[in-house]
Amino acid sequence: MSKTIGILTGGGDCPGLNSVIYGILLKAADAGYNVIGIEKGWKGFLENRTRELDVSTLDDLHTVGGTLIYTSRTNPYKKSKNIQNPIEREKAIKNTAEMMASQVKKLKLDALITIGGDDTLGVAAAMYKFAGANVIGVPKTIDNDLSSTDYTFGFWSAIQLASNTMDNITTTARSHQRIFIVEVMGRDAGWLTLVSGISAGTDIILIPEKPFDLQNDIIKILKDRVDSGRKYHIIACSEGAIPTKESLERDFTTISPQDIDELPKDDFGNPLLAKLNMSKILVRELNNQNELREYFIRKDAEYDIREVTLGHTMRAGTPNSFDRILGLRLGVQAVKLVIENNFGQMACLNGTEIGSVALTEGAQKKLVPLTSDLLEVADLITKVKCGKK
Ligand code: F6P
Repeated sequence: MSKTIGILTGGGDCPGLNSVIYGILLKAADAGYNVIGIEKGWKGFLENRTRELDVSTLDDLHTVGGTLIYTSRTNPYKKSKNIQNPIEREKAIKNTAEMMASQVKKLKLDALITIGGDDTLGVAAAMYKFAGANVIGVPKTIDNDLSSTDYTFGFWSAIQLASNTMDNITTTARSHQRIFIVEVMGRDAGWLTLVSGISAGTDIILIPEKPFDLQNDIIKILKDRVDSGRKYHIIACSEGAIPTKESLERDFTTISPQDIDELPKDDFGNPLLAKLNMSKILVRELNNQNELREYFIRKDAEYDIREVTLGHTMRAGTPNSFDRILGLRLGVQAVKLVIENNFGQMACLNGTEIGSVALTEGAQKKLVPLTSDLLEVADLITKVKCGKK
């Protein structure tokens, strides 16, 4: 009897999800496996929402954005998160992992491929660790914040969208001589902002890994830029960018440390950083900087500050070619791991090669290291663009 693979997609949607699904379907059909799509991620998994997927009816699925099988942010271990005692917490996680592993059997699956970010993969990793479930992971997220893979699919599509918008906003900024603050997704990781900001040549880049000082990192740069005759300015700002404690206390009048500490959280305990809307806060704070306003006016420059929050437009639309190819390759690799009975693994990209790594390792986060050469490139751009012409 032919074997059955279940697949699910969890967390935020992401360009390239369908490419992975198509890669899985292509390889599974060739190897004689059936594929069942589990709808809405872990939610549908727990609610037995399944449907058969037939590759012959899904031509060119890899070119289509979003996910055919829907997604959700559902954390089956949510209750364990609030247990303070570590031994009790681990016991609760183990119990849930065993329940989840038995659900794999109940759904009559020989293997389960989970496609998601650190949250979704973390759920699968615990199912393998505590209950030996036949799970495989595929790393997904526009945020690119997963260790053990050089890129997650979706990242470069999102970069292109953000970079294009920043390029385009320049004409408005130039025409009106405005300051534009463009807020970029990415939660607590700055990869999206850093790379799209460099790509578009934004004048200032603010990322979560490097808390900023309003005086030194924004006001001083803006003054230097008007001194050198530059009359419009683009700031790329991560949704997770925050001021240093010192700057927050000294320079900010419209938010307090409490506002940051008390942000609501999602099912996985991630603070909902977008709710802070740092670009809007910066507009308000800069509008309160009367000395800076007068400085601009003395230099015959407009002081008009606007913000654009890219939000979900960054995950929208079709995957670019890089993400289509990466998605297909990761999907094929995931099925190969199933065929080899090599469970508890995550497909990954090492340089230009597709490989695999233990899920427990692959589900870990990867933030921008402060030693990254990308930060040096960004700093050089900022420095040169506020110096003499
Ligand atoms: O993790 C991907 C991501 O797009 C983050 O950059 C962002 O903070 C979050 O998802 C938004 O999630 P949701 O679509 O659930 O609001």
